[in-house]
Amino acid sequence: MLSYRHAYHAGNHADVLKHFVQVQLHLYMNQKDVPYTYIDTHSGAGVYALDGAQASKNSEYNTGIGPLWNATNIPAALAPYLALVKGMNPSGKMRYYPGSPYVADQLSRAEDRLRLFELHPSDCRILAQNFRKVEEHKAEQGERARGRRVLIEHGDGFQSLKKLLPPPSRRALVLVDPPYEIKDDYKKVREALDEALGRFPAGIYAVWYPVLQRMESRQFADRLKRLPAKEWLNVTLTVSTPGPDGFGLASSGMFILNPPYTLEPMLRETLPWLVQVLGKDAGARFTIETGTQVTGAAARMAADGPRVPVGNARRASPLSGKGSLRLPGQSMVREGEEDPRGVQPGGSAPAAAKTGARRVWHPDGGAQSRPQGQGTAGATSKRPVAPAGSTGLRTSSPRKDGARPGGAGTGGPRSGSKSGKGSN
Ligand SMILES: C[S@@+](CC[C@H](N)C(=O)[O-])C[C@H]1O[C@@H](n2cnc3c(N)ncnc32)[C@H](O)[C@@H]1O
Repeated sequence: MLSYRHAYHAGNHADVLKHFVQVQLHLYMNQKDVPYTYIDTHSGAGVYALDGAQASKNSEYNTGIGPLWNATNIPAALAPYLALVKGMNPSGKMRYYPGSPYVADQLSRAEDRLRLFELHPSDCRILAQNFRKVEEHKAEQGERARGRRVLIEHGDGFQSLKKLLPPPSRRALVLVDPPYEIKDDYKKVREALDEALGRFPAGIYAVWYPVLQRMESRQFADRLKRLPAKEWLNVTLTVSTPGPDGFGLASSGMFILNPPYTLEPMLRETLPWLVQVLGKDAGARFTIETGTQVTGAAARMAADGPRVPVGNARRASPLSGKGSLRLPGQSMVREGEEDPRGVQPGGSAPAAAKTGARRVWHPDGGAQSRPQGQGTAGATSKRPVAPAGSTGLRTSSPRKDGARPGGAGTGGPRSGSKSGKGSN
């Protein structure tokens, strides 16, 4: 049963993190004069109307793009992302928000290829409509049609990924962004990536995930570290201390396999500002962690399962691996040493632990200074297309897995609403 509809969450803090990172990955891919294939295993509808019934339900964009809209002193790295969103809203009023396929379309080049998968029939139809309008608009502007540049498939992205690898040009950027409504999604992500890396080890694979109390979520990043990629980067953004009732999504992460070397310093410069602007309380924070594949005994230990205390306890990662490094003078934690709910407002450094992480850094809580520098617009301004959420489509019945309050369709794990209890 497919109940998740991303329109309910469009533009929330998790989308900001995801799409900001996605923009950076495209910009990196664009540096080389060789085309690449962008594969979106879970595409959603492509464009969302923030004033539509679905997005308005809990107005989750108020946790994300909302506070950024009129922000000043924007870090340079955020500027292309913000310019893209603003380009969809030429009136200056925040009405539309891009989904990952739209981000990809705007940031990729004529010679690049987009392969988009979406399982929900309605969202797939809206996605296809949106791209038809994009193409029409481009034709009006005199741009030649690009043949099979964009292919949209109504199907299972987990299954389809392997069919496309290796890509013809031997360059690929893959986004894996499932709803995580069912805990199987965590396993499917790992399995799909394992197979994808076997077929095409050189691809850049980006995975969005919710940082939640549930076991699958807490173990997820550690398990991704064991995938056969040379390097990984894990960034999390927490906007508030999770409530005791567990409702709402306070924190999410992007895990990137084979990350560009430019990504970490760029995130390090930008995340303090995002925490400052999106943070709701002293629990707001970020972590950035990088490392090499965790192998051998350490990986087996991690596979043994949780060693995860709950509550505020920090856990020592069972992992050990290559390249452990702690930078002197930085307040650092290794991802996994902290429980998503165990956010320490003071940001004190946890005990050292053995891990495959090379390093992870987070600012001392609340101590970030406003970053210097004014962002500059970089992305092109293009007309918005028909968004999801303006179609009157409704989601189906509430989720039944009981794993995460938040309501089917409106959210499950992705809900950034205050209560997270949104209903359709
Ligand atoms: C979080 S949304 C995607 C959001 C989109 N990536 C973005 O950033 O705008 C997840 C989407 O995956 C779809 N979906 C769920 N399971 C799927 C599967 N196995 N294959 C493809 N799409 C799936 C859902 O219908 C939903 O639209």
